[in-house]
Amino acid sequence: MKNAKILVAYLTRSGNTRVIAGTLQRALGAGLFEIRPARPYPEDHELHVAQATRERDNSFEPPLAEKVANIAAYDEIYLGFPVWAKPCHRP
Ligand SMILES: Cc1cc2nc3c(=O)[nH]c(=O)nc-3n(C[C@H](O)[C@H](O)[C@H](O)COP(=O)(O)O)c2cc1C
Repeated sequence: MKNAKILVAYLTRSGNTRVIAGTLQRALGAGLFEIRPARPYPEDHELHVAQATRERDNSFEPPLAEKVANIAAYDEIYLGFPVWAKPCHRP
């Protein structure tokens, strides 16, 4: 869409998704928004995976630290996120 107002929103733990989101943001001339949980996840990877697995199993949607201001103003939104605790990841 020509002259579209575009937002790239992303979630990351270790930064890979941030790199891709930044590349996309620059290429599209878009805004950039980092999705952060209100309560940070554990630093420890295994504890983080266990929490993410529990949250997925309980359909828990973590509260966010901040929401996009006026999301309705955007014509296109790109959402970037890492794979987290997909079912086959279970021990
Ligand atoms: C909590 C958690 C759960 C994850 N679960 C999976 C998984 O089920 N399958 C998989 O292939 N990778 C899994 N990963 C690996 C991430 O998808 C991968 O490291 C990704 O590149 C992280 O992106 P980021 O650097 O933007 O955080 C998991 C990582 C975390 C932190």
